Amino acid sequence: MCAQTPEAVIPDLPLVASGKVRDVYDAGDGRLLLVASDRISAFDVVMDEPIADKGRVLTAMSAFWFAHLGDVVANHLISTDVADLPDGARLPGLAGRIMLCRAAEMLPVECIVRGYITGSAWKEYSAGGTMHAMAMPAGLLEASQLPEPVFTPSTKAEMGDHDENISFQRAADLVGAELAARLRDVAVELYRSGAQWAAERGIIIADTKFEFGLVDGELVLADEVLTPDSSRFWPADLWHPGATPPSFDKQPVRDYLDGLDWDKRPPAPPLPPSVVDATAARYRDAYERITGLALADWPGHSV
Ligand SMILES: Nc1ncnc2c1ncn2[C@@H]1O[C@H](COP(=O)(O)OP(=O)(O)OP(=O)(O)O)[C@@H](O)[C@H]1O
Ligand SMILES: [Mg+2]
Repeated sequence: MCAQTPEAVIPDLPLVASGKVRDVYDAGDGRLLLVASDRISAFDVVMDEPIADKGRVLTAMSAFWFAHLGDVVANHLISTDVADLPDGARLPGLAGRIMLCRAAEMLPVECIVRGYITGSAWKEYSAGGTMHAMAMPAGLLEASQLPEPVFTPSTKAEMGDHDENISFQRAADLVGAELAARLRDVAVELYRSGAQWAAERGIIIADTKFEFGLVDGELVLADEVLTPDSSRFWPADLWHPGATPPSFDKQPVRDYLDGLDWDKRPPAPPLPPSVVDATAARYRDAYERITGLALADWPGHSV
């Protein structure tokens, strides 16, 4: 459940949906406007404190990957330029945090790909030797690299619930066998390509989630792509099988919250400025290391 009801920031466009992090507007002509806020959620609860530049990082990084991965599959991105927005929506506060997209008929399968075993997958494997109910080689340690990236789909839960793992067969029941196989193959290829790029820059992409949709019958990569919110990024130099390394993302927030006596239900406890600043620094660092670009050069930079 969302702890806050975010204000609609573009009064002239209809707000279609408001997620924990992003607001979605109808931009007309079959287009959606995704606005990435600086909100951060942990344990599915939105914190009160914004993380400076987080929305710009999510947008800039997704835009980078859409361009980089464009030869693998088509995507929904039309523009990240405020000048391309409809009249009445070109608000200066939106610079750097918007994606104008083709509205897609979203497929009800979340396409998770895992290259390393951690989190819930590690829990399952250490309890019974399987991952996503599939037999896995013996002897893997926490955070081990898997022999091959593995497609572990899930379905999107209703607000407030965690996503539910589904088998490949169930994914095929939901979208058809042919499309399910295409989703699997494309998702694995996207992961391989992105993970290789990041690895050359000292970042391990341990796992990630892609969302796809159909536009006029064409499969398109939608939503956000290979960001710290949709993926686990690890510093390669801190990776040793046997323990999960600290992530380039919400780790400072999670660590702080774990040290509190908080039941993980709203309202969220206040975050100290040191935790907020450490988190903002990680998002910026992840962007700059992966893209080799300065975040200051992305629109919306305030001096
Ligand atoms: N091209 C697109 N066409 C239609 N819907 C899209 C497109 N790209 C992304 N979406 C949808 O827009 C929404 C983005 O919002 P966001 O990710 O903040 O919320 P959420 O995923 O519903 O919830 P949360 O991430 O908070 O659990 C998602 O529901 C996503 O599936
Ligand atoms: Mg989402």
